Amino acid sequence: MLDIATGPGILIEHALAYAADQDDRFALHAVGSDLSEHAGAKTLRSSDEGRVNFVVADAAQPPFPESTFDLVASQFGVEYAGLDAVMAAAGHLAPGGRLALVMHLAGGDIEDYCRACADLLGQVKTTGVFACAYALLDQARDVLDGKEHDRDRAQALEQEFVAARDQLLRSMHAASQEAMAVTPFLARMLNDLNQLCARRYAYAPPDALNWVQHQEREVEVYRRRMQSMLEAAQTPEDLGALQTRLEASGFESVRYDKVVSASHGNAFAWRLEAVRAG
Ligand SMILES: C[S@@+](CC[C@H](N)C(=O)[O-])C[C@H]1O[C@@H](n2cnc3c(N)ncnc32)[C@H](O)[C@@H]1O
Repeated sequence: MLDIATGPGILIEHALAYAADQDDRFALHAVGSDLSEHAGAKTLRSSDEGRVNFVVADAAQPPFPESTFDLVASQFGVEYAGLDAVMAAAGHLAPGGRLALVMHLAGGDIEDYCRACADLLGQVKTTGVFACAYALLDQARDVLDGKEHDRDRAQALEQEFVAARDQLLRSMHAASQEAMAVTPFLARMLNDLNQLCARRYAYAPPDALNWVQHQEREVEVYRRRMQSMLEAAQTPEDLGALQTRLEASGFESVRYDKVVSASHGNAFAWRLEAVRAG
């Protein structure tokens, strides 16, 4: 099997367990691929007598030979690279091989969650809390460099920082239930930023600056991850178009439907299956 955008290799782990349950009546050889080289670490750890391999690859430009695999799968993955990447993935199947995908659903629960989280993380920039922290660090550096300590300037910058921080705290309190996964992360970050700004004269300016820049990057990486999940969400029209393309490329039994949560009954993903004509 080929698992595209394998991440930590959850699908491959399930496939290995399934093969073991079948008393290894078939020899499973799994290849996991992902854009991120870190993703492969866990997949490789779970490797079983060389039956699992990991390849760093962009799903938009897959390096695998055509018509090779019996199963091509992806769970919340290949659609990040667009529907052309899904067609490329399907092209790796041998005749009679099966395509099995779970994809992000536009309008589903996961999309609501990602939108709420991306919006709240976007508030960090809107409030200007990092810009205010940088201004305070500049002011502390001037003092530590021996320039005259302008207490009025310091106080004004502190007030600006506190106003931005409190605005972000208000956004966190007002955020919807879906964004609650982000609030502990932001609360920790704000608490640490607050302490750093309050004790800014006690730190070497380059260390303090590095730390704030690192925090700002972390927030942006988190926001982009949520945004890319939103962009990967597929509409019913996308799935209809994919079905047409697969059928035109010689796929049979192309079926798709929404996956509904057993606990709360809401749809949260698409499931698509297709078989390459033998
Ligand atoms: C939501 S995670 C899903 C991981 C895994 N399939 C699972 O179900 O746990 C999305 C994965 O897609 C990968 N990814 C995003 N864009 C990609 C691309 N263009 N090509 C390959 N992998 C990509 C990310 O690195 C990440 O590991």
